[in-house]
Amino acid sequence: MNQDPAPDPTQEPRGARLGCPDLGVGIGLRVPHYRQILSEAPKVDFFEVISENFMVPGGRPRYHLDAVRERYHIVQHGVSLAIGSPTPPSKDYLLRLKALVSEVKPPWVSDHFCWGQARGMHLHDLLPMPYTRAAIERVVARAKAIQDTLGVRLALENTSSYLTYTQSQMTEWEFISEVAERADIGLMFDVNNVYVSAYNHGFDPYEFIHHVPHHRIVQIHLAGHTQRGTHILDTHSAEVADPVWDLYRETIGLAGPVSTLIEWDDDIPPLERVLEEAERARAVRDGAVSARVERAARGLNPAPRFVPRAPPERRVAPAEAPHGAGWSVGGPRELAYGEP
Ligand SMILES: [Fe+2]
Repeated sequence: MNQDPAPDPTQEPRGARLGCPDLGVGIGLRVPHYRQILSEAPKVDFFEVISENFMVPGGRPRYHLDAVRERYHIVQHGVSLAIGSPTPPSKDYLLRLKALVSEVKPPWVSDHFCWGQARGMHLHDLLPMPYTRAAIERVVARAKAIQDTLGVRLALENTSSYLTYTQSQMTEWEFISEVAERADIGLMFDVNNVYVSAYNHGFDPYEFIHHVPHHRIVQIHLAGHTQRGTHILDTHSAEVADPVWDLYRETIGLAGPVSTLIEWDDDIPPLERVLEEAERARAVRDGAVSARVERAARGLNPAPRFVPRAPPERRVAPAEAPHGAGWSVGGPRELAYGEP
């Protein structure tokens, strides 16, 4: 039951970008929901799986994945590539990823713009990159090679971050845009991560969203975060926040219909609650696409115009924060889950 809905004449065609089809709205495939998904086949357009959870030859993980694949589109999202690390991704990891890709045949494979390994240690975290010329050269060369090796479109995701580097020579959006164009890869565009980083670092999230190559966005992530006053933690443990819905509407306005996924990785609620969030995403997405169609019908540019805004207002200024209010807990999510 791959759910290809009937074409809706009020919507723009669901075309492919960079060879990646618009799959609609999906959710992350998470262990607590396996049984219900298999028994009830809920209405959702696709599932995203964390690649590392299934890079094993058989057993229960692969049994569940194969059963879900019989009914739904699947895309693969990785958390261990660490493409910006001092040392290149391990050959063994890439071979195992390629083996899974050959079986699952996802329309694209994603991971993150981050680093996470050095001196033989893998830190299993999505650490932010310094936005330098040298880092661009390193990530472009590796991304091209990895995309060729895997034989499927690679998409890299903007991460949420809590620090920046004095060595950076450009903005994050300039960095990811240049890498995506030069390596000819897709963007996994995480709208919540844009907002989290904009809040933490004090930039205008609309400036970020307007200044990336929209034709390269092959998938969008939406997730909830935790507001800590001085900063926001990217916890994926709640519903999507209102300012993130606004940014999502703007992103679809700019990019057109793009496969969109709800990530809910901590304090995971019943499946019905995650599906409600997916339906909200569908409504926002449909509304933004209809607005594009309307603007085009009136002979206007279908995309919204860039209007600069102030950075998100911090609820507590860092100078007023009580001692020790740093990001000692939480941090980037999307870690691989163990099987129950
Ligand atoms: Fe994400």
